[in-house]
Amino acid sequence: MEVQRAKISAVGHFLPEDRLTNFDLEKLVETNDEWIRTRTGISERRILKDPDKATSYMATKAAQEALDAAGVSAEEIDIVIVATVTPDYMFPATACLVQEKLGAKNAFAFDISAACSGFIYALTTGASFIQGRTANKVLVIGADKMSSILDYTDRTTCILFGDGAGAVLLEASEDETGVIDSIHYTEGDVNCGLYQPAGGSLRPATHETVDARMHSIRQDGRAVFKKATMGMADVSSEIMKKNNLTADDVAWLVPHQANLRIIDATANRMGISSEKVMINIGRYGNTTAATIPLCLYDWKDQLNKGDNLVLAAFGGGFTWGAVYVKWSL
Ligand code: UT7
Repeated sequence: MEVQRAKISAVGHFLPEDRLTNFDLEKLVETNDEWIRTRTGISERRILKDPDKATSYMATKAAQEALDAAGVSAEEIDIVIVATVTPDYMFPATACLVQEKLGAKNAFAFDISAACSGFIYALTTGASFIQGRTANKVLVIGADKMSSILDYTDRTTCILFGDGAGAVLLEASEDETGVIDSIHYTEGDVNCGLYQPAGGSLRPATHETVDARMHSIRQDGRAVFKKATMGMADVSSEIMKKNNLTADDVAWLVPHQANLRIIDATANRMGISSEKVMINIGRYGNTTAATIPLCLYDWKDQLNKGDNLVLAAFGGGFTWGAVYVKWSL
């Protein structure tokens, strides 16, 4: 049987209006704008302040925008996949809430937990259903309300993250464009280099876990930095070699936005000049599963049909990988 490719047929996004600048953070913790900008590349991030709105709200907004752009109705969707580490609830899955809010009544829905690699894991998963001809239209959403799991007294983590959502609609491709190849890796983080210590079945919420701020992100920044730099650079050059792509063949690197220095190292290893790298970390910080679709959204008007894109991410788990997409729009 002929290979059925999945194409990205539309992109949507959602960013909360409220901005948290480096100068705002200077008032909360002992830090300064210069340190944050030079060490990370971040100037400001968006925060979803409304306490009654969470990840499913942002995910639904992003998905609806993608559906509107494609002129596809929610009832036509076969699967809704949400990548997130900040679900509205431990269960049901955030994707189930999004399915209901969209009115995607013919779709089944599930979440993927792969932290900052969540979107590329979900993209590969969604594309596989189309490649296997068990689905025609799949919504793949990356969404995180990181402010809900940040400790705003910990300067080593609270400066890094922001809230946001991005979504793509996948449909069967009629030509050679679409999701061409994926490489994914996992290395179980038994030493807890990047994790949320409490709230799961190992340490359910107690007064003690709350008092010890164990429901917020903990990260061994230096260790994760080294792993992320190696992981993203290695897997990006691996997917290029595997698909016989030279630096000239790649139109855009679409990297996870965790740290500008990690992005630069990845581009260097690929031999790609900075003009071909999507970078918006300065405005949004690290929105975890949302960074890559937010880049696709911001750059969509500059992309041409047939452009070769390398999407690459590294995150908690540890999880990392790269996806080669030939742009379809
Ligand atoms: O997306 C998921 C994956 N996560 C990542 O990829 C994040 C990877 N890690 C990083 O991006 C970086 O490690 C950080 C941005 C988190 C930290 O940058 P760094 O260059 O690795 O700094 P460091 O942790 O080595 O700290 C250098 C100094 C320390 O002070 P001393 O020990 O040299 O006196 C820190 O205490 O900077 C201090 N520091 C700060 N100073 C001002 C740490 N955080 C801050 C801060 N403001 N916010």
